[in-house]
Amino acid sequence: MSVVPVLTIDGPSGSGKGTLARRVAQKLGWHLLDSGALYRLVALAGARCGLGLHDEAGHAELAATALIRFSADAAGEEQIWLENEEVSREIRTETAGEGASRVAAMPRVRAALTARQQQFAQGPGLVADGRDMGTVIFPDAPLKIFLTASPDERARRRYKQLKDKGFDVSLAALSQELAERDHRDANREVSPLRPANDAELLDSTGLSIEQVENAVLALAKARHLLR
Ligand code: DC
Repeated sequence: MSVVPVLTIDGPSGSGKGTLARRVAQKLGWHLLDSGALYRLVALAGARCGLGLHDEAGHAELAATALIRFSADAAGEEQIWLENEEVSREIRTETAGEGASRVAAMPRVRAALTARQQQFAQGPGLVADGRDMGTVIFPDAPLKIFLTASPDERARRRYKQLKDKGFDVSLAALSQELAERDHRDANREVSPLRPANDAELLDSTGLSIEQVENAVLALAKARHLLR
């Protein structure tokens, strides 16, 4: 069992996991693993190499070897690097999300990323955001959150997030894409999206991010994860 405390946050697209994970990590002074970004990077790396979306061996090779780095700029904005090129914006598009969902269904890609994800568990602690953080990657984590929200609210949040970043998106198209992506993520054979047996279920519909964050911090306190 890992001695570094890990707090896992899993759930469907647009549930608010990413924002929540970032805030909780900052509050606790812990590291952050955005595992979705890894799948997005593998899909992008594959597209750049001209790999077809059925080429499992090619994507698994990239998942094992691609040079990936996370950093922050002077203003604290997240920066994500692929082979020393900044791709922070490129990986956030819906096309990248769709590609990520497809490569994420490949068992060999998931296997290649397992050790890479576990290496993020460094002291003083890790907040890990994804779909299988509590079920597969960190099964011994002392606190597992499964965050949901109604489909309408998730689509609205994702819409606002993309609009704020300057992307041109339609709410109707986004709703449809999210529904398809969630269906694929929840029904794939390997590591499907589902809560761990010992996960705390949190429904964020109608709650502010502060309320959700406070609920998670209260749970972390009750488990003696806070100093
Ligand atoms: O969280 P996200 O939207 O950045 O994730 C992109 C895709 O990657 C999502 O459709 C499912 C997949 N994913 C996964 O299968 N397992 C994870 N731990 C994280 C993401």
